[in-house]
Amino acid sequence: MTRVFDEDLDAGFATRAIHAGQRPEPLAGAIMTPLYLTSTYVQDGLGKNKGYEYARGKNPTREALERNVAALEGGRHGFAFASGMGCLDSIMKLFRSGDHIVCGENVYGGTSRLFDRILVNLGLRFTYVDTRYPDRVADAMTPDTKAILVETPTNPMMWIADLAAMKAIAAQGNALLIVDNTFATPYFQQPIAYGADIVYHSTTKYLNGHSDMIGGIAVVTDDSLAERLQFIHNAAGAVAGPFDSWLALRGTKTLHLRMRQHDVNGRQIAAWLAKRFGEERIIYPGLPSHPQHELACRQMKGFGGMISVDLGTRERAARVLERVKVFALAESLGGVESLISLPAMMTHASVPPERRARIGIGEGLIRLSCGVEDPEDLMADLEQAFDGL
Ligand SMILES: Cc1ncc(COP(=O)(O)O)c(C=O)c1O
Repeated sequence: MTRVFDEDLDAGFATRAIHAGQRPEPLAGAIMTPLYLTSTYVQDGLGKNKGYEYARGKNPTREALERNVAALEGGRHGFAFASGMGCLDSIMKLFRSGDHIVCGENVYGGTSRLFDRILVNLGLRFTYVDTRYPDRVADAMTPDTKAILVETPTNPMMWIADLAAMKAIAAQGNALLIVDNTFATPYFQQPIAYGADIVYHSTTKYLNGHSDMIGGIAVVTDDSLAERLQFIHNAAGAVAGPFDSWLALRGTKTLHLRMRQHDVNGRQIAAWLAKRFGEERIIYPGLPSHPQHELACRQMKGFGGMISVDLGTRERAARVLERVKVFALAESLGGVESLISLPAMMTHASVPPERRARIGIGEGLIRLSCGVEDPEDLMADLEQAFDGL
């Protein structure tokens, strides 16, 4: 099972981003972790090996990424998967038929699709609640509840869950607290410090940051929970391939630099949009008008580049999406390049329309993933796309 190098945890975030989990390679001293393209490892004799038997179980490139992200999250063990969804699916295999999970009502559409269309058929039960309100989460707990799963900030409504309150409710009910930290990244938010038992990511997004791979990662601290996840990782086999691991590892080396600029751009563009359309139409936790701005400031060090904008109607939204030139109309987020999307028809199309309406994901709601281009160019691009609105 992959475990962080304890000495890595003493370093600051930037040093950890660049070095944690990686040591010069013994053959030539290559400064960068090599890409171990192998499915198996030669054994010295029966039962005698160098700690590596078969690459579904362990791969040195993947291990470096797992140690690196575990160190960034302040955890002890990392498990890299073939996608964010593969990661969540494997986490859910910790549970068994009849178990109940309290899940945020506004989560990535693929998360509720996995739960409602696949895992319910295996006997898992889910209750969706608005995780902005801890008492609603507490009310949803049952004797069978084994986990609370929250995304914070949520995709795309930027709801904030109070992590300390979530942990207290989970602990009271003997349940795990599972946090999707994809939007905030460990640079801005460290759920393990609030007691989260499992933190996971779509590494496809900010951790990799270059929109050139698909991946997921889970980080845990507790050794026995890690052993159970390790068993699932190998037995179910949704593991990250070495090249995707290598790309993500290259990505995390600049996570702190990229996140700073995403945050600068996000704040500037959100403030400009609030002036342009009125602050009630702009959803960004960094704006003082965000209803949970104070909580966001308390548990996050920054807010990043994700902004949602309510343009009122699908026609208005479509006009903007079709006119942008620097922003690209595409699914996904968190890359160095700016993307724009319409959650109701794209990332959250699989969410039942009544739930979408309850959450507030209307057909006029667009989501911006502000990249790290010059913010002036991004605003000029949006301005020309808004022309006539
Ligand atoms: C917040 C969040 N979690 C999980 C996922 C799923 O990750 P992946 O697309 O890597 O499977 C996504 C994908 O958009 C996401 O936005």
